[in-house]
Amino acid sequence: MPKRDDIRAKIEQELNDPGSRSGKAYRGKRKPKSKPPYNKKSGPAHANPKKVKPGERPQMGIMTTTLWEYPSQHYDDHLGRKMQGSKDYAGASPSWAIWQLLQRYTRKGDTVVDPMCGSGTTLDVCKDLQRKGIGFDLHPQRPEITLADAREIPMPDETADFVFIDPPYSTHIDYSDDERCIGKLDSGAPMQDDDVMMGHAYYEAMDQVISEIDRILKPGSYMGLYVSDSWKKHKGKKSGTFMPIGFELFAIMRDYFEPIDIISVVRHNQKLQRGNWHKAAEEQNFFLRGFNYMFIMKKPE
Ligand SMILES: C[S@@+](CC[C@H](N)C(=O)[O-])C[C@H]1O[C@@H](n2cnc3c(N)ncnc32)[C@H](O)[C@@H]1O
Repeated sequence: MPKRDDIRAKIEQELNDPGSRSGKAYRGKRKPKSKPPYNKKSGPAHANPKKVKPGERPQMGIMTTTLWEYPSQHYDDHLGRKMQGSKDYAGASPSWAIWQLLQRYTRKGDTVVDPMCGSGTTLDVCKDLQRKGIGFDLHPQRPEITLADAREIPMPDETADFVFIDPPYSTHIDYSDDERCIGKLDSGAPMQDDDVMMGHAYYEAMDQVISEIDRILKPGSYMGLYVSDSWKKHKGKKSGTFMPIGFELFAIMRDYFEPIDIISVVRHNQKLQRGNWHKAAEEQNFFLRGFNYMFIMKKPE
């Protein structure tokens, strides 16, 4: 007869080694080995654009590092749709980056709000992933987007499960004639007498937007803010002004939220292929924007 201690040691050994034959008896039916969604040697397809045939888009998969790269603005959804939002809308957000956020921080049926919805990219990703998308904008591009100022979102307190926002980055794009458009506020505007920082009006407006996001989010929920820094050439001079919009907005958000992570999003923007842009950047000693930030924040419980 084996001793009790010997039996216990054997059970412990088998529990720690699910590969052993008799381990099955203690763990119940073993799960079939799940296939990783990618080739073990080459990694996930979305992380290896070169492995994809020309003209094809890599299959979507959860990105696991803080460098998010995908060689297209859009992805092919499970119904075969090839675009979310509109590629013709100046300043449209990369739909695959919103897909990444919704996969990680939301569940089916959750309410996802985009207070500056533009061409409706967030709404299309929501449809694809069966989330309830609600979009607002001062210049709605589609009937399902409601006209509203992001500083006064027409929603009750603590009713959103997630918020995605891609605000104007200073004055580069003329979104509409609406005087309330934050894209009319220069984040590089020089300090005035009573201002505390460069671009004060822009950051004050964005503080109001962020405070509204905080108001509508349920405690314990997440938000993603997609933004880029900017650089503006001084007319007739070789010099320019750098606007650290990302860090300034991050500092504002820290007053409301708990920081979860900072992602660098690389879009492979075709405009960055333009030789004359690179020549100007070298000659005038400035940098072209190579990445955007995706700031992920959580509203405390
Ligand atoms: C970068 S675009 C958003 C792009 C959008 N995510 C998409 O994929 O098409 C910024 C948007 O902010 C909107 N906007 C600017 N100021 C606003 C405000 N105060 N309230 C609501 N929307 C505003 C603009 O009309 C513009 O559509």
